[in-house]
Order: sequence, then structure tokens, then C-alpha cells
Amino acid sequence: MYRYIGNKTKLLPHILKRVRELIGDTGVVADIMAGTGSVALELKKKNYTVIASDVMTYSYHHLVTNLQLSEYPKFKGVMDLIGESQDDIPYFKVLDYLNSISPEKGFFFREFSPDGFPLNGTPPRKYFTSENAEKIDAIRVCINEWIQTKRINDKEASLLKHTLIMAVNEIANISGTYGYFLSTFKNNSTNKIWLKPVEIEPYNSKGHTVMHGFAEDLAGLITADLCYIDPPYMKRQYAANYHILETIARGDFPDAIGKSGLRDWWDQHSKLCTKTKGLQSFEKIMYEMCCNKFLVSYSEDGLFSLNQLEDCFSKFGEVTIQQIDYNRFKSNDSKLPSKLKEYLISVER
Ligand SMILES: C[S@@+](CC[C@H](N)C(=O)[O-])C[C@H]1O[C@@H](n2cnc3c(N)ncnc32)[C@H](O)[C@@H]1O
Repeated sequence: MYRYIGNKTKLLPHILKRVRELIGDTGVVADIMAGTGSVALELKKKNYTVIASDVMTYSYHHLVTNLQLSEYPKFKGVMDLIGESQDDIPYFKVLDYLNSISPEKGFFFREFSPDGFPLNGTPPRKYFTSENAEKIDAIRVCINEWIQTKRINDKEASLLKHTLIMAVNEIANISGTYGYFLSTFKNNSTNKIWLKPVEIEPYNSKGHTVMHGFAEDLAGLITADLCYIDPPYMKRQYAANYHILETIARGDFPDAIGKSGLRDWWDQHSKLCTKTKGLQSFEKIMYEMCCNKFLVSYSEDGLFSLNQLEDCFSKFGEVTIQQIDYNRFKSNDSKLPSKLKEYLISVER
């Protein structure tokens, strides 16, 4: 499973049950802070039409892959490189090609590996072994070149970036998030990075919309029967904690700042992670979206109390709160208790 703060894979049955109670078996559901896309994908499988978005670019690629593909794309533009054959699935051959590409000492090697030499003069970072960082560099350069020369289309590019991110998650030397690296190489981080085919759900991929941006800005563009909101609960900003995935998703070469090598993430800073502006964000979304029903996930240890949320949401309709006992997302070294109450808060205009 994708280790992502707030990933709702384990809560899916509760969320889907509540969606069905609120709007029945069909309709348009917006998932406007969709992260890994776990909820959006499940909604698609259950035959809802989904509008999904998030402020992070990596999420955009996960969402395109999960929602807008129902089979592997054909990769016609790289056939001359991977070899044409009736029997093989082109996506698998593309992955064979990328898995056997010659390593390159590039940006990831320089900034994120122990044999690197960060441009800002800080000691080498240990997010990846040097071998894996060189491999990531070569794959990134190749994907970028295929995009620039139009050898692959947008959906093929999203699928490859999604696949690379899933492979990187398997071998990153981190404790849960990318906020910092571990001082010694642990767990699976010494394994060789390997791109594995991701599964594509053969469900209807027509009619779903993927957007990219702040929910506060997109809300006015969306019309839906129900809007699911799964906001950040804490002060921890996703842009800082998943900076490396964002760099893979964007395919760029940003300045790596400070000891931990974060990219400048201010353009993706979320107001929902602040006590001063978070409630205004909820209000803007509920006020501007053309939608009569909202379903909000929240957690007992979130920035806002249940009373604060209820006061805020009750301006827009009748509020109902459901409580679910849940196993908390924990970084490996976390001392927090493992049980947690999660809330599903519905608002009906
Ligand atoms: C709790 S996670 C969502 C997890 C998701 N439901 C899943 O199962 O993977 C919260 C998400 O909200 C996004 N986010 C934070 N502030 C946002 C904003 N103002 N607009 C859009 N997305 C935002 C983060 O990037 C993150 O992916």
C-alpha cells in the first residue's frame, strides 16, 4: 500500500457506504483533495462519475492513471525503440527498456545520494543508494526526452511517472515521508529500483475529469451531486513531505535547499494546514461549489475540534457526524498511540 499521510484505503468501505446513503448508486462525485487517488478509483469502480483534483502534481499523474485509463496505452511513438511484436504488451516492453537503461550521474545522484555533492555545499544526502539515484536520473531524462519530442502522449507520460513514483516509494531510505532521509540505509532501500507494471482497472474510464490545483480555486468550476473532502489534518505540509515525488512528477531540476534538500514548495503551501486560514478555505469551497452535499473526512487529532468544524459547516446545511475507530498512519519512529477516531461529517444543504 502507498504510504501516504491520510491515505484512505482502509476507510474505503465506510466512505463508499456513506456516499451511497447520501446520493444512491449513481451520480457525479468530486474528490477535491484526492492524494493517491484511492477514493477516486473506488468511486469509479462503483460506477460514479468522478471529478478528482489535488494541489500536488504527483497526485495528478496518479489520478489520470487511476481514472482515465481502462487499458494500457499503445506507446506507438516509441515502438522503434522497444521493438514491435504482436504478443507483447507495449507498456511492459517500455518498462523493460527503462529498467535496462544505462545509469547516469545526474540531479538525483548529485542531490540525493551518498556519493553526491549537493550544490549548496551541505553533506551528501542519503535518500537513495547511489546506484538507484543514477538509475532514477536516467529514467527521468528518458521520459523527459520522450515528452519533449512528442514520442509519448500525456496519458502515457502520466502512466510512466506514476509507475516510477511507485517504484521509488519501494526503495526510498525514509521513515514514512520524504521530509528527511535516514542516516543509514535501511529496509528495502538497498534493493535495486525496478519499474513494475501497475494494474489498470478495466472499468469505464470515460467521463471522469482530473484537475490540478487548489480546491479553493477550483471549487467554482465544479458541479457535482456530492463533494468528498479529505483535507490535511495537521500542520505538516504535503508539499514538504513529498518533495521528491513532486520533482519526479514535474520532471524538473529545482534547487535542493538546506540539509534535507527540499524544493521550494511555497507555491503549494496549503491553508488547510493552518489554524488561522483553514476554516475560511472550507467556507470558500462550500460557498463556491455547485453542490448540495458534502462529505468531509477528519481526524480526532486534527487542527480543528469537532465543534469548530460543526460551527463552520452548519452555515451551509444540516451536519451529521459519524465516528470510526481507525489505525493511525505512523512513521516508523512515531511514539503516537496507534488507535485514532476518524470522523465522516456530512453536510446537506
Ligand atoms: C489526507 S490527504 C488525501 C488522501 C487521499 N484521500 C488518499 O486516499 O490518498 C490530503 C490531500 O490534500 C491535498 N491538499 C492539501 N491542501 C489542498 C488544497 N488547498 N487544495 C487541494 N488539495 C489540497 C494534499 O496534497 C493531499 O494530497
